[in-house]
Amino acid sequence: MRIYKAKDYKDMSRKAANMLSAQVIMKPNCVLGLATGSSPVGTYDQLVEWYKKGDLDFSEVTSVNLDEYKGLDAENDQSYRYFMNQHLFTRVNINPGRTYLPNGMEMDEAAECRRYSALIHELGGIDMQLLGLGHNGHIGFNEPGAAFEKDVHCVQLTETTINANKRFFASAEDVPKKAYTMGIKTIMQAKKIVVIVSGADKAEIVKKAFFGPVTPQVPASILQMHNDVTLIADEAALSLI
Ligand code: GLP
Repeated sequence: MRIYKAKDYKDMSRKAANMLSAQVIMKPNCVLGLATGSSPVGTYDQLVEWYKKGDLDFSEVTSVNLDEYKGLDAENDQSYRYFMNQHLFTRVNINPGRTYLPNGMEMDEAAECRRYSALIHELGGIDMQLLGLGHNGHIGFNEPGAAFEKDVHCVQLTETTINANKRFFASAEDVPKKAYTMGIKTIMQAKKIVVIVSGADKAEIVKKAFFGPVTPQVPASILQMHNDVTLIADEAALSLI
């Protein structure tokens, strides 16, 4: 594992965008695994800036996102499809037909998990997966205790995650209770993984995930076993290392 220490959120975002853009430049028809949350927003902004300057071309890129809430459609401003359209897809020249997320409106869970997992397989796998890190060590929506061998599946969100996300909804009742997510196995099959972490509130979990024992109780700890992981974290997030 490589660790890059960034000065702050902006520097972390610039470093992460640099890795993603190198991937796109070296292999224009690559498959990017993308993430949502506050962590990647700055990375996407930086990619858009370079695209506008004419330094980046997304026309041959395919993207697959980590997760999506079950029950939210693309028009819902809390859906991850909406987030991706807002922060990246409508701001660069990626082909909208080649941007994939799980379909939150598919009620047949088994069918949707099969479809999304087959899709990733048919695309030839993920060249570079971008990941944020949850406070409890979750990646995607793989909460503590998630089995390492899971592929795409539908999860019951934990109380902690529902509470953490309720600020974005009218009430806790409105927060979806389930989500589709790539499993740990899907994530571990990505050829390269880039994890971005910012802020002192993540310092404890960075220490546990990357320097503690590998355990399903800290889902991100499995990343220690991947042969091409880059952690880009700011000084605050690395303050306990
Ligand atoms: C969410 C997402 C994760 C994300 C995590 C951290 O629950 N499903 O993919 O990495 O929370 O979010 P943030 O980057 O806002 O701290």
